[in-house]
Amino acid sequence: MKFISIVNQKGGTGKTTTVISLGAVLAKKGKKVLLIDLDPQGNLSYSLGINEIKHTIGDVLMGDATAKESIVHIEDENLDIIPSSIDLANIEISMAQIEERELQLKKTLKKLPAYDFVLIDCPPSFSLLAVNSLTLSNQVIIPMQMTALSLQGLDLIYGTIAQIRENLNPKLKILGILPVMIDKRRKLSSEVNDYIKENFDIRLFKSGIRNNVRAAEAPSFGKSVISYAPTSNSAKDYTEFGKEFLALSK
Ligand SMILES: Nc1ncnc2c1ncn2[C@@H]1O[C@H](COP(=O)(O)OP(=O)(O)O)[C@@H](O)[C@H]1O
Ligand SMILES: [Mg+2]
Repeated sequence: MKFISIVNQKGGTGKTTTVISLGAVLAKKGKKVLLIDLDPQGNLSYSLGINEIKHTIGDVLMGDATAKESIVHIEDENLDIIPSSIDLANIEISMAQIEERELQLKKTLKKLPAYDFVLIDCPPSFSLLAVNSLTLSNQVIIPMQMTALSLQGLDLIYGTIAQIRENLNPKLKILGILPVMIDKRRKLSSEVNDYIKENFDIRLFKSGIRNNVRAAEAPSFGKSVISYAPTSNSAKDYTEFGKEFLALSK
């Protein structure tokens, strides 16, 4: 069972879209996949059409529900998810008082049923919730737009992960940076590519994700772009990425 954090401390960098789309691709390939919504904004839960939420990841973190009873099965996508809601913001504040607060997610997820992959949608900050996710995870995927501004954040991501590896989770690995919302006409993109290669020891996934309106539409239909628009560029790109991901996970 592999735990994978999808992180970037900036908002709007394609984290949630990547969690759903990669999850859907892996599920289609017969993998057993659990998604965890660890963002109080609950975009992941909303994007999969979950309206009535019985238990949330917040309840799990506080010991008010077990992980198992909080899982919602999404029949159409063959995906499981533990949803979140806005309460998670307050729960994060309460968690600050708990002893070994960085280990809370790891402890409360001990009795999960078996999955091939657990993909965790992190909030847009290196808050306690994100630290909990990184403390539990084997691998990290960083979806990033290839712009100069995004690069400013890469130092922080790299440094934070190095710190967590040192203090909390020695097995944590950065699997790679996933270029998203790519506009091939932009010259800057390739310059940014080169900059990353020269300055960081991080893999850039070969299968980047193109800018595609279908990806932005899918959430309103409560579906992954893979099932909403299977022939779209987004679906194609995420399918390629899924293959690259699986080849690296062996
Ligand atoms: N490849 C893409 N092409 C076009 N729009 C995208 C693409 N990926 C994501 N989006 C849209 O961009 C916005 C931010 O993406 P999201 O996955 O929510 O980012 P994050 O979770 O990092 O905040 C959303 O409205 C989403 O639908
Ligand atoms: Mg998000």
